Amino acid sequence: MPSPIIAANFKTNHTRASTAEYVSRLDGWLAKNGYGMPVYLFPPATALDRFETESDIRIGAQNAYPTVKGSFTGEIGMEQLDEFGVETILVGHSERRHILGESQAFIARKFAWFMERGLEIFYCIGEPLEVREAGEKAVRHYLVEQLEGIDTSYEKLTLAYEPVWAIGTGKTATPELIEQTHAVIKAISDRPLLYGGSVKPANIAEVLAVPGCDGALIGTASWEISGMETMLEIVKS
Ligand code: PGA
Repeated sequence: MPSPIIAANFKTNHTRASTAEYVSRLDGWLAKNGYGMPVYLFPPATALDRFETESDIRIGAQNAYPTVKGSFTGEIGMEQLDEFGVETILVGHSERRHILGESQAFIARKFAWFMERGLEIFYCIGEPLEVREAGEKAVRHYLVEQLEGIDTSYEKLTLAYEPVWAIGTGKTATPELIEQTHAVIKAISDRPLLYGGSVKPANIAEVLAVPGCDGALIGTASWEISGMETMLEIVKS
């Protein structure tokens, strides 16, 4: 069994300097302990860089506009990603959907644009609390809608199931719920499927033991390098 896919989402945390320090420490840990799989890191756009690492650390963008360059104030495009050789991008994260107001139509356009350019895409879906409370059928319907317009057979696609009510709340979904929901998503796509939402050292082993869970997308608990090292140590095969 290969080690699970681990991806760290820094969100709006870390500076350029602290990201460089983090990458160097992570590289040291990976070089010493081995992991057997690439480890993904999504720093803020201002911290993107070509990091010279011994181990396979893949730096991804948390977001970019579907353009090479142009007039999209506050956004970055392919030209800015290319400068640092960034070949991985997060699309559809719940904070972009719910806080930044990205529609499914726009997300699908973004997905298609970066897919055409061959980027590796981490695509996130997940239901808010009121949908979860409305029951399994409502959740299924909601998740299917979040996959509308998405080529779920894209060979460079990794999916992440991240229930909104579990993100940054300390409230992780139960293994039963993850298994049940992953089965719904797996019936639609056979691409690797991660779980995200308050994954931390105390629960990562349990989360990754869930059948149909291929890895974890980790926010809060990944921001301290020591937490990341602890989690990699726990899940490394
Ligand atoms: P969290 O975030 O680990 O802080 O819940 C996960 C995510 O949003 O990817």
